[in-house]
Amino acid sequence: MPEERFGHYSTNAAFELAKIEGKSPLAVAEELAVKIRTSKEAGIFEKVEAVPPGFINFFLKKEVLAGNLKEILKKREKFGQAFSGGGTIVVEYSSPNIAKPLGVHHLRSTIIGQAIVNLLRFIGYKAVSLSFPGDWGTQFGLLIAGYKRWGDLRKMRENPIREMLDLYVRFSETAKENPELLEEGRQEFKKLEEGNRENKKLWKWFLGESLRDFERIYKLLGVKIENTIGESFYELELQPLIQDALKRGVAQKGEDGAVIISIPGSQTPEIIQKSDGATIYTTREVAAIRHRLKKWRADKLVYVAANQQTFHLEQVFRSAELLGYAKSGQLKHVKFGMMLGPGGKKFATREGRLIPLEDVLNEAIERSLKVVEQLNPNLSVREKGKIARAVGIGAVKFFDLSQNRQSDIVFDWDKMLNLKGASAPYLQYTYARLKSILRKAGVGRVLSIKYQVLGEKEFGILGHLIHFPEAVENSASRYEPNHIAEYLLKLAEKANAFYETTPVLKAEKELKEARLALIQAVAIVIKNGLNLLGIEVLERM
Ligand code: ARG
Repeated sequence: MPEERFGHYSTNAAFELAKIEGKSPLAVAEELAVKIRTSKEAGIFEKVEAVPPGFINFFLKKEVLAGNLKEILKKREKFGQAFSGGGTIVVEYSSPNIAKPLGVHHLRSTIIGQAIVNLLRFIGYKAVSLSFPGDWGTQFGLLIAGYKRWGDLRKMRENPIREMLDLYVRFSETAKENPELLEEGRQEFKKLEEGNRENKKLWKWFLGESLRDFERIYKLLGVKIENTIGESFYELELQPLIQDALKRGVAQKGEDGAVIISIPGSQTPEIIQKSDGATIYTTREVAAIRHRLKKWRADKLVYVAANQQTFHLEQVFRSAELLGYAKSGQLKHVKFGMMLGPGGKKFATREGRLIPLEDVLNEAIERSLKVVEQLNPNLSVREKGKIARAVGIGAVKFFDLSQNRQSDIVFDWDKMLNLKGASAPYLQYTYARLKSILRKAGVGRVLSIKYQVLGEKEFGILGHLIHFPEAVENSASRYEPNHIAEYLLKLAEKANAFYETTPVLKAEKELKEARLALIQAVAIVIKNGLNLLGIEVLERM
């Protein structure tokens, strides 16, 4: 999407060719421009120009831009769809650890992951949404031991997540003074692994309560993860997997008895079984790769996980490849930076506890209610509440998705909720205003317009509308939702500048109709884009 004065498309291809041909880039650009102007496809261009130092700029004909407008009005929510696509991609995201509240650090994975699933589906992939909760490991031994010592049935029923967290923290704290407690915890986990009925029952209870709690928050977030397969699922596959790796010579037994996989080019061998015989996280990860590829006949597995997991996942991927479970290129880590609290500090309470995600979301909704109250005090309480929810959740999501996913982001309430800034409420408000114009005009479906009456400002918007499919394609193929976010901000900016200065309802008939069609198309594209990001639009605000 070049700047307007550089046309609708622009290329620097002449620079590369110039190097090969030993000519000046401008000379090559001029030659190419001539070829393009006389080619079969030239009919869509009003102008193709070569400009110093060697760029070629393409200007589409007005007729083509108007044709795209009609296409938007016809295809509506399907506009921008099916560019590439085909194949099955399993997207793992969210993946929280059970017996703990969902923290803000899981927010990014959940939001980015869902946007990627939406995007892939939009362009024609079969995307499987999957969460891989941490539901296995020694920590559950500690929790079970803690429950056996101090567990309170009434508290557990009232607020299970709180009680589990309290028990776990109390147990670990006490263990600092009395290390023998750790052994007690390990024993409880061992019993769990061996299938002890009481421990299994407790673990299942904890798991069920946790998953229910996550589900509640996903609902609040408007996120739908269709498959949940936790680490524990792979328990029975691990021993055979380790034996198989040894038999095939991919893994070796070290001097201390641990089973390791040496990874060519990596300093660190990957342990798949500890010297005491216990399996570890990696073993479950590798088993999960084999299982996911088979179960869904997937072409690709995508992991939406924090930057900090880079080394771990790299090792896991290489191990799975060495074992022949996955081919190179099938496994992809989609990384993201940290989410820091206001002021750039870790997202924690004064006592250093992580802030539950739900508290953050509720605060976003509360703050949005104030915005709505200022904007539209006459709405009913119910309506205000509904709008505040969409605005608050949308604001949090957009704030995340509009930034480069690999950078750390600093939570900033004012930016997030700024009605005039690069925010979801800004886009939602723009959309609501466009819809209000359309309501006032009482337009239904416009399909034929006289584009010749439109002026430069309108064509500026039309010129931006043609780029939506590219923004979608870019975001989907690079797993970077921020391209759509940036695209929408620019579109809204143009649309706002247009209707704030140009009469629509009071324009004469043909002009009014053409302008209304344009407004309708902009509204459709804003809605499509926001929905792909998982953000609701509002008819009124
Ligand atoms: N359960 C981990 C956490 O809460 C995230 C897991 C990411 N996914 C993976 N396959 N390693 O930090």
